[in-house]
Amino acid sequence: MTTSPLALVTGSCGLIGSEVCAYFHRFGFRIAGFDNNQRAAFFGPEGDTSWVLARLRAEIPGYSHHNIDIRDREAILHLVAELKPAAIIHTAAQPSHDRAASMPFVDFEVNAMGTLNLLEAARQACPESPFIHMSTNKVYGDRPNDLRLRELDSRWEFDDPAFAEGIPETLSIDQSKHSLFGASKAASDLLVQEYGRYFGIPTCCLRGGCLTGPNHSGVELHGFLSYLIKCNLEGREYRIYGYKGKQVRDNIHAEDVARFMHEFYKAPRVAEVYNLGGGKGNSCSILDAFRMIESITGKKMRSCYVDENRIGDHICYYSDLRKMKAHYPLWSVTRGLPHIFSEIASGWAVRSR
Ligand SMILES: NC(=O)c1ccc[n+]([C@@H]2O[C@H](COP(=O)([O-])OP(=O)(O)OC[C@H]3O[C@@H](n4cnc5c(N)ncnc54)[C@H](O)[C@@H]3O)[C@@H](O)[C@H]2O)c1
Repeated sequence: MTTSPLALVTGSCGLIGSEVCAYFHRFGFRIAGFDNNQRAAFFGPEGDTSWVLARLRAEIPGYSHHNIDIRDREAILHLVAELKPAAIIHTAAQPSHDRAASMPFVDFEVNAMGTLNLLEAARQACPESPFIHMSTNKVYGDRPNDLRLRELDSRWEFDDPAFAEGIPETLSIDQSKHSLFGASKAASDLLVQEYGRYFGIPTCCLRGGCLTGPNHSGVELHGFLSYLIKCNLEGREYRIYGYKGKQVRDNIHAEDVARFMHEFYKAPRVAEVYNLGGGKGNSCSILDAFRMIESITGKKMRSCYVDENRIGDHICYYSDLRKMKAHYPLWSVTRGLPHIFSEIASGWAVRSR
């Protein structure tokens, strides 16, 4: 009798983790997740993800949850040895750029050391299983801000034709300002690549742009669109930090992220790196996002302007998706911005009832 493959998802109650659990379950996987609701410790009650855990338990038959901290090396080694998963999808993290400076040790221990714990556990127990790591575009530090830009009415745009399709994986991650978060994530990104190159494990780093969807417990310091839409619905004031509100982000729905992970699982490669975002087609500035949500909800966005950008914040960033599409031609972005905005707005409306 064959049993279905097991996917181990770290950070299973987060935006990406929970989507991955649901997606891989739909494709016949058994799902084990671990998450200790650390997001509530990072961001307070608004970051609490217990509602997601309740949903995972209700919606995924046989979902097994482990309330483990990724910093607990013995527990991680033991869990992975016991489960020997067919795929490891690593999404647990301290995810905020700005939050990291107030907790440098915790940030590094969770993001870098936690990833090392998991990699070593994988190497010992299941080195053939694909190891998929959620990295971030912050590994490039503020290097994208060195590119020549053009100012348009509501957004910035790359002015160099070499970047017309966005930021490629070849951009240097070295010698730029990262924030402590970007540095701890760069450490984990390099470790994941090294466990691929050095030990031959099928690993990939997905350097995410703005990942989004209705399952985000969005807070001011993390979850760009989710938080912006929540502000609109609740009539809260949204603070714009610098760059005239024209800073550009590329947004990708969490399900399109999960779809890419599944494609990688089916045809894994060793030590790969991909820039995973919504690409040019799903890019917008904060000002553009205001317009879009106003047209959906009919509510005027309340905002104030702080004339200082967040340290190391990108002025214009969208991912060049050509490498991903060349390696995995069946994958593409399926959710455009109007769909994403409407879905997040209705998700918040349901949750606040
Ligand atoms: N959301 C984005 O816009 C974005 C952009 C680029 C990269 N990423 C990366 O994607 C990954 C997932 O991000 P997300 O938006 O789903 O974040 P999230 O905060 O929604 O999810 C992360 C989950 O990990 C859990 N977690 C944190 N520390 C833990 C620990 N010590 N032990 C066990 N569990 C722990 C949290 O409780 C949370 O549920 C992260 O690596 C993040 O850096 C996210």
